[in-house]
Amino acid sequence: MQFFLDTANIDDIRKYASWGIVDGVTTNPTLIAREGVDLKTRILEITKVVDGPISSEVIATDSEGMIKEGRKMAKWHKNVYVKIPMTSEGLKAVKILSSEGIHTNVTLIFSASQAVMAAKAGATLVSPFVGRVDDISGDGMYLIQEIVTIFQNYGFMTKVLAASVRHPKHVVESMKLGVDIATMPPNIFDKLVSHPLTDKGIAAFLADWEKCKDCQKPY
Ligand code: G3P
Repeated sequence: MQFFLDTANIDDIRKYASWGIVDGVTTNPTLIAREGVDLKTRILEITKVVDGPISSEVIATDSEGMIKEGRKMAKWHKNVYVKIPMTSEGLKAVKILSSEGIHTNVTLIFSASQAVMAAKAGATLVSPFVGRVDDISGDGMYLIQEIVTIFQNYGFMTKVLAASVRHPKHVVESMKLGVDIATMPPNIFDKLVSHPLTDKGIAAFLADWEKCKDCQKPY
C-alpha cells in the first residue's frame, strides 16, 4: 500500500515528505491553478522532493493533443506519470503512450466499467474518485471493491489508486479492500496520525514525570 499526496503545494509536500511516508504525488489542473504556478516548474520541483510517481495532467481533450502533451511531460523526468481523463479520446492516448513505455494515470473514474476500459488500454494506474461518488449519495467504497475484484479476477497489472479521499476511513477501508495506492490531501495525513488518547497519554506521562525529581538524573 502506497500513500500519495494529492496537492501541488510545495511547502506541504516538503513537510509531509519529511515524515518519510510519502510515496508519490498527484496533481490536477485545479490543484496547480490553486498554487498559481507554472506546471512544468512545479512538477520538476516536486520530483526533487519525492522520489516516486508524480502525476501531471494533460489539458487537451483530443487524443492527438493528449499524446503530444504526454510525450513532452514524460521527458521532464523519469517519475512523471501522465494523467489522462477517462474518455474514449483518453483511451486512445493511453494505448499509444503505454505502448511507448510512458506511465499513465487514468483519472475521473466513476464506474467499474471505466476502470476496466482504462486497464485494457494499458493504464499504469486508475483513479476512482471515492469522495465525489459519496458526494452524490453513491458508494465510493463499493466502487473500489468492484474494481479491485475485477482486476484480481482477470490479473490486470493496472494499479488501483483511491482518489478524492475525504477522511481517514476512506483510506483504511481502501486498504481493507486491497487498493494499491491512496492519494490524499495533506490534512488527511494529519488525521491519520493523530488520536486524542495519544495526546492525553503523552500529557499524563509528562505530568507524572515532572512530579518525580528523583527520576530525572541525566543519562
Ligand atoms: O486529484 C484527484 C482527486 O483526488 C480530487 O479530489 O477532493 O477534488 O474530489 P477532490
